[in-house]
Amino acid sequence: MELIHYYEDLNTLHVGTEKPRCYYLPKKTDGTDSYRLLSGNDWRFFYYPNPQSVDEKFVLKDYENPEYVMMEVPSCWQSKGYDYKHYSGGAFVIPYDPPYVPDENPCGAYYKDFDVSNEELEKDLYLYFEGVEAGFYVWVNGQFVGYSQVSHSPSEFDITRFAKAGKNRLAVLVLKWTDGTYLEAQDKYRYNGIFRDVTLIARPKSAVVDYTVRTTLSEDNTKAEVFVRLDSYKGLPNVTVSLFAPDGSKLANETLVTENNDLETVFKVNDPILWNAEHPTLYKLVLSTDDEVIEQKVGIREVEIKDGVMLLNHRPVKLLGVNRHDSSPTDGYTVSREHVVRDLTMMKKNNINAIRTSHYPNAPWFTELCNEYGFYVIAEADFETHGTMDLVGEEPIYRKFGKIVQDPAFHDAIVDRMMLNVIRDKNASCVIIWSLGNESGYGKNLIDAGKWTKEYDPTRPVHYEGATWAPPGIENDQSCLDMVSRMYPTVETIKKYLADPTSVKPFILCEFVHAMGNGPGDIEDYLEVILPEKRIIGAFVWEWCDHATYEGKTPDGKDKYFYGGDYGEFPHDGNFCMDGLVYSDRRPHTGLYEWKNAIRPVRATLQEISPLKVSLWNRLDFTNLDDAVIVTYEIKEEGRLLSQGSVAIPSIEPHEKGFVLIPETPKTNKNTYLKLTYTAKQGTALAGEVLGFDQIALFEEQDEVLTPVSKTALPAFASWSVNETADIYELTRDGECIVFDRHLGTFAKIVKDNENQISEPMRFLTFRAPTNNDSAVSKEWRMAGYDRSTVKVYETSIQETDGVIEIHSRFSIASPAKQPFLRLEAVWKVDLEGTIYLSLDGNFDKVFPYLPRFGLGLKLPNDKTDVTYYGYGPYESYSDKHRASWVDRFDTTVDDMFEDYVFPQENGSHYNCQYASVGNLYAKGKKPFSFQASRYSEKELDEKAHNFELVPSDGIYVALDYKQSGIGSNSCGPRLAEKYQLREEKIEWEISLRFDNKN
Ligand code: GAL
Repeated sequence: MELIHYYEDLNTLHVGTEKPRCYYLPKKTDGTDSYRLLSGNDWRFFYYPNPQSVDEKFVLKDYENPEYVMMEVPSCWQSKGYDYKHYSGGAFVIPYDPPYVPDENPCGAYYKDFDVSNEELEKDLYLYFEGVEAGFYVWVNGQFVGYSQVSHSPSEFDITRFAKAGKNRLAVLVLKWTDGTYLEAQDKYRYNGIFRDVTLIARPKSAVVDYTVRTTLSEDNTKAEVFVRLDSYKGLPNVTVSLFAPDGSKLANETLVTENNDLETVFKVNDPILWNAEHPTLYKLVLSTDDEVIEQKVGIREVEIKDGVMLLNHRPVKLLGVNRHDSSPTDGYTVSREHVVRDLTMMKKNNINAIRTSHYPNAPWFTELCNEYGFYVIAEADFETHGTMDLVGEEPIYRKFGKIVQDPAFHDAIVDRMMLNVIRDKNASCVIIWSLGNESGYGKNLIDAGKWTKEYDPTRPVHYEGATWAPPGIENDQSCLDMVSRMYPTVETIKKYLADPTSVKPFILCEFVHAMGNGPGDIEDYLEVILPEKRIIGAFVWEWCDHATYEGKTPDGKDKYFYGGDYGEFPHDGNFCMDGLVYSDRRPHTGLYEWKNAIRPVRATLQEISPLKVSLWNRLDFTNLDDAVIVTYEIKEEGRLLSQGSVAIPSIEPHEKGFVLIPETPKTNKNTYLKLTYTAKQGTALAGEVLGFDQIALFEEQDEVLTPVSKTALPAFASWSVNETADIYELTRDGECIVFDRHLGTFAKIVKDNENQISEPMRFLTFRAPTNNDSAVSKEWRMAGYDRSTVKVYETSIQETDGVIEIHSRFSIASPAKQPFLRLEAVWKVDLEGTIYLSLDGNFDKVFPYLPRFGLGLKLPNDKTDVTYYGYGPYESYSDKHRASWVDRFDTTVDDMFEDYVFPQENGSHYNCQYASVGNLYAKGKKPFSFQASRYSEKELDEKAHNFELVPSDGIYVALDYKQSGIGSNSCGPRLAEKYQLREEKIEWEISLRFDNKN
């Protein structure tokens, strides 16, 4: 079919569309809706490889083609089996040749019939498309209505003159690519189709079209003004504007007579109940004319920036949020209200108070839900041109990144996107910051978008991170940006900004602690800087959810999730689409629990031990702690409960500290911890929900004493007989046999009660299946050969002292082509109870990269999978990732310890364990160690690309790690901080092992 190529014309962005307006759905005066959804599964659809092959008759009123299948709207056609799924980070998926796009431009032709009543025909009829990717042409009854683009912003068409009484035919042709595709290179799956609702709205000839609502407060918050302005209208309506209090009572009303140019009013509210994310109280405005009613929820609040601090209602606030995409594992961009409510409810329960709509406007009703549930929203325009970074040629980064924002041809298209974003959501109280878009460099086009925004809406600050890549010279005006925004800075970078006297703007981390796979590990280090510093507006985890797509079950019944590259697409960014705090199906990652407790509403620190006094820091911005939570405590000694109860908390104002006395002072000299748990108080929205905890050590850990049992202690015990060959030392007793391999430097066989206790020789562990956060350093690890290291034993000797067998060995660990990275001396003792003691002394050669881990690996038979450990649990924990966990004794199983990442990787370790047991094995450290038990070896986890490919082994792999390196967030953040790297020159380690499971 012949189309006018609006989709390759940067001067024609929209044809036949209405001027953008704020979002609302009007009602009739009798309270019934004056709109209806055209969405449904009764649309007809045909997928064409290009516009040329589209049957041009499909737009006609009576066109029927049985080849057109039934199609659900809204949906993405890739989710319905058409075209192919494509995950690309920021790269353009078509050649970079703007404004042109490939001729082979797949398209979806849709048609649907809808009835129009005589009553409706007397009104003006509008089609409101909430979101269509990427560009679309619209016909009604065979007549061309218009064209639009900007996928995540709405397009509205007046179809009054095309509509008829009775049956009407709507036809829509959606193109996969337009010139707008160059402005929508966000890190996302590239879906297409009518992916949000389509609504038919019947409106009176005389009506409100667009309006602005703003609220301001007196300095002491005791008086508010609600300002309402009609920005545009049709005919000459008299508009009665009424304000209702949160309890539904009418506070005031005023009639605006448009004929007299009477277009604005201000309501004064005394003692207003203010809106904030902790108390999302909403007033209601009703704009009514003779024939129509528009309802607008209003949160009374004011945002300002003063002395480098962002204030809400004159108080500093801390935005602790997430970046959120509209994303479903089965439906792509198409998300229902239920889906969004599930996200928001989960976020609330996890202490999250802010959302950046990365990197495009969400459905127009999204902000209504955020108003209601209480979230601060950074509303971002549908704009990212990241792909210019992949273009060939040497250019300074600010030129390359800014290629599009510095190109006059794109000026209007870029400003248009910001206008669509701002005008639609301008009355949403939850939106407290506008964002110009993401990662597009900086230049005039964006500067103008920013200036327009500041002029159009002076009430909200403007955000944009990409100004980091500002070109030197005249195009570098950042006066429209109200904050300095960075993504993934190091803690040092933030400190440096704060320490710089020329830093006047507040600081925000629009993205940080990249939550890809096992991670993030470094949240707490950031929060220690972010929480106390008023000039930091807040920080947003990248990102809320994984985007892996659900592709059904394998023949053996496992769920199959796919990611980039699994669909044969090019270019793609592999598993970078799995970097959320929750899996695609919204099961929490351990990272979500980590974030939740790091941003708990209150933080405790020990003040005095006797009497036991704790200081509580109310981290909330608007709520007295006593109104928010109840605090309960538990004191445990080595996992044994000593006492518990609840603590009366005093009134502690937001951001203030107060003290509580715990009515117990345990007298103990063992590891003893106080755990305070914070539960949302009855009467609050989250009543009964545990919002976080603090664990405080009351008595510090002591080194355990590992003493072999000798003849002197147990004279009646049978001694070991020792058989020595050039290859082994064999220790035997009735029903017992222990074989030490003199070449491996470890035990190769342990028989107790005539049963094999290990199914493979023990080995020294120097590798872990790289996590996503290890992906850069794992190249260094593989280069050093940590994944294929072998042991060279130089000498061994054996002796017996008072019944205790002592084996000495001197050995090194190295890989092919490389010099040894570890040189060690081990003393192994086997005592009369059959307990094995390892005492290790070694040196690590610091020319090598830091080690992922160093430990002892055992493979146990898989008939016993019960596990007990005393250390950080119940969630996987590492030296830098244990804020969701606490030290306790945990009873679990090998299977429950497994964290089933779609992209297999290191998981399920437990940090700081004093002892651990799996089946018959019981291990105890002189100092705490890291412990893991899994059905999968690190090799299996390393080699497989999806969890459904994993084959469980015939045994249980147990890792007793002297230490593991931390987790960090280097998949997109800074390199793992040195303090979490295992890179000690001197290693000294003592651990004991028994195989009788008596712990
Ligand atoms: C950022 C970008 C995000 C995402 C992230 C990596 O640079 O803004 O959209 O791509 O990196 O996951």
